[in-house]
Amino acid sequence: MIYAGILAGGKGTRMGNVPMPKQFLLLNDKPIIVHTVEKFILNNKFEKIIIATPREWLNHTKDILKKYRIDFPKVTVVEGGTDRNETIMNIIAFIETTQALTSEDIIITHDAVRPFLTHRIIEENIEQGLAHSAVDTVIDAIDTIVESRDNEFISSIPRRDIMYQGQTPQTFNISKLKELYYQLSEQEKKILTDACKIFSIKGEAVKLVQGEVFNIKVTTPYDLNVANAIIKGSLDR
Ligand code: CTP
Repeated sequence: MIYAGILAGGKGTRMGNVPMPKQFLLLNDKPIIVHTVEKFILNNKFEKIIIATPREWLNHTKDILKKYRIDFPKVTVVEGGTDRNETIMNIIAFIETTQALTSEDIIITHDAVRPFLTHRIIEENIEQGLAHSAVDTVIDAIDTIVESRDNEFISSIPRRDIMYQGQTPQTFNISKLKELYYQLSEQEKKILTDACKIFSIKGEAVKLVQGEVFNIKVTTPYDLNVANAIIKGSLDR
């Protein structure tokens, strides 16, 4: 089975003083999370689409799904976790209440606040996720990456042509992700905030899928302005 996990369990602190977590803010008169979920609804390969939000926003999420007519039986809202990986594990725990997992099952996880992902990106995540245990969506690094270990002086400048910027979706074989995640110590869980890093640190191959420069993550008020400009640009075309 192929599942989608929409990660909307964050509080969006970097968005500053806004009345609700950023995933619920409007982008062209529609909540960001609705734009994102609609992209997954359009692909009929998903057995279930599970959205995880903070507990206090569960009802709000269900209400907006109804309002925007995406209250299909295959769409479920569950409670998120205290960090991003815990949110993914909560989604997987929900899947297991509906059906026993098989070693073939995969989950495409995606940030609710990246509303511009494309059909191609979803399709390539599915294709590669069925062939590999883990998949990350990336774009070529645009700027030179500069490393500073003391935050004062440069310690190294890696070759830009082998640097990438991570986006989402990230896709995982569910059984493999569970196996690796539950081996981690509490200390490791704190450091390994990116689920692909769990695979990579354990020596498991993570396949790359090409993202898009416009597949931005809405993190700050500036990003929200950029997202509005992207939407407006696509409507004007
Ligand atoms: N996320 C999640 N569960 C968490 C934390 C984050 O599902 N416990 C989700 C967010 O809702 C978001 C995505 O992961 O869609 C990317 O995370 P980020 O942009 O860091 O979101 P926040 O944690 O909400 O933002 P901030 O770091 O500014 O508080």
